[in-house]
Amino acid sequence: MTNRYAVILAAGQGTRMKSALYKVLHPVCGKPMVQHVIDQLSVLDLTKMITVVGHGAEKVQSHIGEKSLFALQAEQLGTAHAVMQAKDLLVDEEGTTIVVCGDTPLITTETIDALLQYHENTNSKATILTAYAEDPTGYGRIIRNESGLVEKIVEHKDASETERAVKEINTGTYCFDNKALFDSLSKVSNENVQGEYYLPDVIEILQQAGEVVTAYQTPHFEETLGVNDRYALSQAEEIMKKRINKKHMLNGVTIIDPSNTYISADAQIGRDTILHPGTIIQGASVIGESCEIGPNTEIKDSCIGNESILRHSVIHNSEIGNEVTIGPFAHIRPQSSIADEVRIGNFVEIKKTVFGKGSKASHLSYIGDAEVGENVNLGCGSITVNYDGKNKFLTKIEDGAFIGCNSNLIAPVTVGQEAYVAAGSTITQDVPGKALSIARARQVNKEDYAEKMDVHKKS
Ligand code: UD1
Ligand code: CA
Repeated sequence: MTNRYAVILAAGQGTRMKSALYKVLHPVCGKPMVQHVIDQLSVLDLTKMITVVGHGAEKVQSHIGEKSLFALQAEQLGTAHAVMQAKDLLVDEEGTTIVVCGDTPLITTETIDALLQYHENTNSKATILTAYAEDPTGYGRIIRNESGLVEKIVEHKDASETERAVKEINTGTYCFDNKALFDSLSKVSNENVQGEYYLPDVIEILQQAGEVVTAYQTPHFEETLGVNDRYALSQAEEIMKKRINKKHMLNGVTIIDPSNTYISADAQIGRDTILHPGTIIQGASVIGESCEIGPNTEIKDSCIGNESILRHSVIHNSEIGNEVTIGPFAHIRPQSSIADEVRIGNFVEIKKTVFGKGSKASHLSYIGDAEVGENVNLGCGSITVNYDGKNKFLTKIEDGAFIGCNSNLIAPVTVGQEAYVAAGSTITQDVPGKALSIARARQVNKEDYAEKMDVHKKS
């Protein structure tokens, strides 16, 4: 099989985005655009993948990590100049080189694969992935001769009236014979409206040298959307969102209102789970089967087991077991681990806490930096007092303990197995197992107090 390589162009600032963030790092469904491109390419069997970075090189590189090699384009002199920066890493190779723009986040493995097949079957030196655009404004146009063969690509800014009327566009994805690519790149000039070295000029150079140059037109225009500004970014978001939601629905997830449900590209959801409106699932979250999520629930980088119900709540960087009930209006903050059959009710905040099987905090509590055993009952208003203004301390509540309403547990402190804490207590010392701890002022009743008040009033 022919060796295959890929070059991803990601050095531009993205002036039209009007942003401090480098263009290719703008997220689409929670993932940077360039990462989408790289993930789709990663599925193909590539010998080398090289990302050309420039603006924000370090940031882009650290996002992508080890999946790709990198070439630096210190000055952005155009897309041909960008590919040229990969020369040292590629020039001696034989095979097919795929070039993709880092700002086309919707491109799929299937389409790139179809382009590759076409390129290799036609023995072309260059094959352009084209699409038919109702509104081709801004894209390079595919100019064909009378016999329908590709002659060149003309950039929108350089195009004549007749050329602008062409609706077949350059998607910015190509396959090249690697040798032919680098031979012709050195011949590209920057004599055009933008004063840039255009990669599409390679097409005309090869065509005039009598080489076979072809175009493969994809029927999926929406996959080829190039994101140059925030309007296109919102279009990409909409298309990607629909694509992701559809995938989950076809896998057996019920989405009540797909237009109002936001799932990241990397999330996994088990079958028979129901997503209510306003559900936002971010990062690499994994949700089990037969769960009910939402309405208005945000889950980020978390794992949820099976048959759990999460309503009107926020869950970040945490693990939730099976048959757990959370909310409405609960907040599970990072590094929490909630075991099976736990119930976290209204207005409860949990932070960096392990919650044992079957335990409950049903109403109005703050539990932070704590280890809660199994079958513990935390009454309404239970608070772990974990912070003295400088340091955080651990609260341990052992299996079967019962914490009465409105109790403060001043950490570091341990409440032993099956111990009781009386309502309204402020616990500053460990409570032994099976003990009852009452830590509040004893009640005093003053008899006939109202009468005394009356006497004062009359005098
Ligand atoms: C480019 C194509 C155009 C095509 C369109 C598809 C050129 C000259 N034009 O136009 O034919 O229809 O894509 O979306 O190639 N980049 C670099 N270094 C540079 C310049 C650009 O790495 O010096 C990167 C950018 O970060 C971006 C990509 O190349 O990811 C495309 O550049 P952009 O300026 O967006 O080109 P378009 O004007 O969209
Ligand atoms: Ca672009």
